[in-house]
Amino acid sequence: MLAAMSFQWWRDAVIYQVYPRSFADSNGDGIGDLAGITSHLDDLVDLGVDAVWISPFFTSPQRDAGYDVSDYCDVDPVFGTLADADALIHGAHERGLRVIFDLVPNHSSSDHPWFQDALRAAPGSAARARYIFREGRGDHGELPPNNWQSIFGGPMWTRVTEADGTSGQWYLHIFDSSQPDFDWTNPDVHALFLDVLRFWLDRNVDGFRVDVAHGLMKQPGLPDLDEPDSASLGAGTATLEPEISTPTEVPYWGQESVHEIYRDWRRLLDTYPGERVLVAEAWVDPLSRLADWVRPDEMHQAFNFAYLETPWAAGPLTQIIDASLATFHSVGAPSTWVLSNHDVVRHATRLALPFENPQGHGIGPATDNLPDEKAALQRARAATALMLALPGSAYIYQGEELGLPEAIDLPDEARQDPTWIRTNGERYGRDGCRVPLPWTAERATFGFNENGTGKSWLPQPTQWARLARDAQRSDDTSTLALYRQLLALRKELQLGTGELQWLDCPREDVLVFRNGRAVIVVNTGREPIEIPESELLISSSPIDGAVLPGDTTVWLRA
Ligand code: GLC
Repeated sequence: MLAAMSFQWWRDAVIYQVYPRSFADSNGDGIGDLAGITSHLDDLVDLGVDAVWISPFFTSPQRDAGYDVSDYCDVDPVFGTLADADALIHGAHERGLRVIFDLVPNHSSSDHPWFQDALRAAPGSAARARYIFREGRGDHGELPPNNWQSIFGGPMWTRVTEADGTSGQWYLHIFDSSQPDFDWTNPDVHALFLDVLRFWLDRNVDGFRVDVAHGLMKQPGLPDLDEPDSASLGAGTATLEPEISTPTEVPYWGQESVHEIYRDWRRLLDTYPGERVLVAEAWVDPLSRLADWVRPDEMHQAFNFAYLETPWAAGPLTQIIDASLATFHSVGAPSTWVLSNHDVVRHATRLALPFENPQGHGIGPATDNLPDEKAALQRARAATALMLALPGSAYIYQGEELGLPEAIDLPDEARQDPTWIRTNGERYGRDGCRVPLPWTAERATFGFNENGTGKSWLPQPTQWARLARDAQRSDDTSTLALYRQLLALRKELQLGTGELQWLDCPREDVLVFRNGRAVIVVNTGREPIEIPESELLISSSPIDGAVLPGDTTVWLRA
């Protein structure tokens, strides 16, 4: 059961992201569902995580895998029923796990009744004012209202046909045309989301991951961008300090007025017992600006994407770790750490790529210079052992505990990410990190569907048999065993609430620090290094005596 008085559980929590369509399929239709999650909660307890964040499972036409919601207070039939959601929350709480749902407030699905009303209503009507409709430019309004480009490719505007059959206004969508942006200057929108929050809080959810939390407010006047082609989820490449980077001011990211929304939500959450939390998905640059999202009266946590985007190299890692701890600490928030999620190339592949791969671009069969899988996994394991030794809260994405690499050889016709479709295949997009999990080596779909229909919404690579959870469970050297041991030790040594202190090291490609009763040595280079004589607590790869090979992390008794 949940500890009644667990003080600010989120400060050091390890939170496991479930991507429901690819986790476990209880009814055999090839798409994972809520009952599938509930039936595997014991596996998550066994892994040793504290909480589960579940990507959207609400009513949706699934044009962006559920990030296009048409009813925020119901469950899509693909994933189950409201009763299944209740059973999941209850089952998790019984096992001491917290549950975080995914709230998508920047946009709805174009199937949402409000948007359907808006399409039927006239320009200038109250129904249209809940979204961002504008007249086009050009003599006949034939050009989009400004030059913004969708994150998924193509213009950020789509023109509608008015009731009389003529071409009419345009509506704004930062993402796909099936995801119209709400107008957050409209009080109706605020009221809708306060109701949505209450609906799930009343059902005992422990918090919300807030999708595109930096996008809700747009700069008044919707001015053109200087460089429209540079559209991405963030304002640029991750940077640390304002002095060394002048962030491009993007009129739809990180507007000051967005913070009042979260203050309002925080006031509501604080009226509920049990430390309910808000977590920002905000691709904000530089890190010092991200701290604004987690001021004491706003959200509790923000994903540290600057950490995720840091290359596997001691210098940049030291810098980002220092900057993260200092920045979040300055507003009294814990730092978070994350290496993988459903939007980026899995870190068991990404950290060894010899080129940059911006968020959402993905890799595929025609990508050159792909790394050796075994060497890449060794690096990923070292990176995870570093991440889980850091003070703060960490996020794990389903499948990384199995060491899953990015699925690269997906056939073109299987790909479903709107990025792939809207860029005509120029970007592979995110399907490669969303392939259904392998549970049982010997079964159809590796046990992803429990009644063996053999259906899987994305095909699984055949070589994943050896990565199946059951195959790893009996192997002490498996990635699953490593994650379980790291999580157990992290808890025992209370590293999440500890303090980091750097120790001297003669080599520039090696990190050495102390956190409480552990000393952590991370060799990001290729050359082995001798480590101090001390009790070995855990090693990310097999080591021989006191010599630490490249791409390996050890935790030693301090
Ligand atoms: C967030 C989600 C991503 C989704 C987008 C639009 O970035 O993580 O998967 O496509 O928002 O909702």
